[in-house]
Amino acid sequence: MKYAGYPVVDLTVAGETLRFEQDNGSMHVGTSVWPSSLVLVKWVEHILLKGGAGGGGGAGAGGSPSLSVVCEDIQPRTFSGKRGVDLGTGCGVAGLGLALLGLNVVLTDIAPVMPALKRNFKKNVSSTSLASAGKPGSKAGKVKIAQLYWENEKQIAALKPPFDYVIAADVVYLENIVEPLLNAMSALAGPHTIILLGYQIRQAEAHELFWRLCPDFFHIQQIPHTELHPDYAWDENDIYILKKK
Ligand SMILES: C[S@@+](CC[C@H](N)C(=O)[O-])C[C@H]1O[C@@H](n2cnc3c(N)ncnc32)[C@H](O)[C@@H]1O
Repeated sequence: MKYAGYPVVDLTVAGETLRFEQDNGSMHVGTSVWPSSLVLVKWVEHILLKGGAGGGGGAGAGGSPSLSVVCEDIQPRTFSGKRGVDLGTGCGVAGLGLALLGLNVVLTDIAPVMPALKRNFKKNVSSTSLASAGKPGSKAGKVKIAQLYWENEKQIAALKPPFDYVIAADVVYLENIVEPLLNAMSALAGPHTIILLGYQIRQAEAHELFWRLCPDFFHIQQIPHTELHPDYAWDENDIYILKKK
C-alpha cells in the first residue's frame, strides 16, 4: 500500500504529530510514505509504553529468545545518547519517529530524494520537540541528514560506523539493490548493533534474494503481529530484528 491518495500523512508519536508531505507524482519512490515505516515506529513506541513486549524475561514459547531480550535494548534510557542511521529514509518517517522517542538519527537517502527529505525534515523539526533536541530537559534525539548510496563505501565510512541502531523500512523492492543493501547494513553495524527492519513483499525476486542472503549476514528474529501496535498491525507489514553474525 502506498498512501498515493493522500498528499499528507500524519503520524502521532510520543504525543506529538509528525506530518509528511508526499510527492506522489514523482518518479522516486522515496518521495512517498511507505507503511512499514509507520508500523516500525508505532511498534517501538508501543513496546516503550508497555515497558517491553513479551511481558517479561526468559525464553519465549517454543524456546525462541523472548522478545523482552530484544526490547531490553529498546528503552528510552538506552535510546538516550545512542546513534541510529535510517537507510533509504524517503520522507524520513522511521528516523524522525524514533528521534521523537529519543534516538539520535542520521536520515540517509540518494540525491534525488533530498529535496523532499529536507522539506519534511525542516517542517517536522520546527513543529515538534525535535527542535530542542540536545538542550537540557529535552527527551528528543538529534537528527541529521546525509546522502548515502548503499554501494558507496566512502559515504558509509564518513558516517563513522558502527551505529547502535540501523533502521531500514520498506527498502527491499528491487533485486539489484538487495546485495548493496545487505552489505551497507553489515558495514554500518557492529556486534552490538540492532537492525530494525520494516518489511513488505514488493517484488518476488527481491524478496527471494533478500531472505536467501540475509542469514549469511545476520541472525533474524521476526516480531509476532500480536506484539505490534494494534492500530498498526497490518497483515502485509512485518518487523524483523537483525543482529550481525
Ligand atoms: C520504498 S522507499 C521507502 C522509503 C521510506 N523508508 C519509507 O518507508 O517510507 C525505498 C527507499 O530506498 C531508497 N534507495 C533505493 N536504492 C537505494 C540505494 N542504492 N542507496 C540508498 N538508498 C536507496 C530510495 O531512494 C527510497 O527512499
